[in-house]
Amino acid sequence: MTRGRYIAFEGLEGCGKSTHVTRLAEAIGGITTREPGGTAIGAALRAAMLDTKNTMLSPRAEALMMSADRAQHIDELVVPALAAGKHVVSDRSAFSSLAYQGYGRLLNIDELKRFNSWAIQDNWPELVIFIDVPIDQLLERLQKRELDRFEREDRSFFERIYTGFHTMAAADPSRWMIIDGTPSKDEVQSAILQGVQDRLGITAL
Ligand code: TYD
Repeated sequence: MTRGRYIAFEGLEGCGKSTHVTRLAEAIGGITTREPGGTAIGAALRAAMLDTKNTMLSPRAEALMMSADRAQHIDELVVPALAAGKHVVSDRSAFSSLAYQGYGRLLNIDELKRFNSWAIQDNWPELVIFIDVPIDQLLERLQKRELDRFEREDRSFFERIYTGFHTMAAADPSRWMIIDGTPSKDEVQSAILQGVQDRLGITAL
């Protein structure tokens, strides 16, 4: 049986990732999942990390909880699905930790890379689709939502993360694909499908 392909979406809050995770998985017959919270154990970790009451959560504890979530996610869901020949389309991946806990919270990025690699046993997504929406537009969208613990951070936090995503994409262009997230959903979707076909040779069903 041919192994499935592991594709992750990345981007800031409100960029439209979840819509395109669903649409891509439907188009190529893959399964959808997310980090944090793709498993039952991960959902418990997610609830604790997003809870606005947990203002005392330390950055290192947050980083370890994120990596614990993804160790469980990789073992329970991602690796078995890929082995069963299914494509996995994930809303976020270990790259979010490099962006949020590294660039955002200013933890050491090499250390984060090391223990996250261990957590996922080197199963990094082979294609990362970064949905690029300018920060002003995202902050405007966030004003309409009830905010979680991350979304309450200030603008400079999101600016560092945005720069971090672009830095990672520029350093590893064969893995990363930057998609302009500002056109209509249908236009963004067709750019994604074209990119997935060009990069991985997977065509829509
Ligand atoms: P999620 O709800 O999927 O984000 P979104 O608001 O884009 O739908 O993710 C929850 C939050 O967790 C989000 O603010 C980003 C953050 N996060 C990290 O800080 N590090 C990580 O490794 C991951 C996967 C997410």
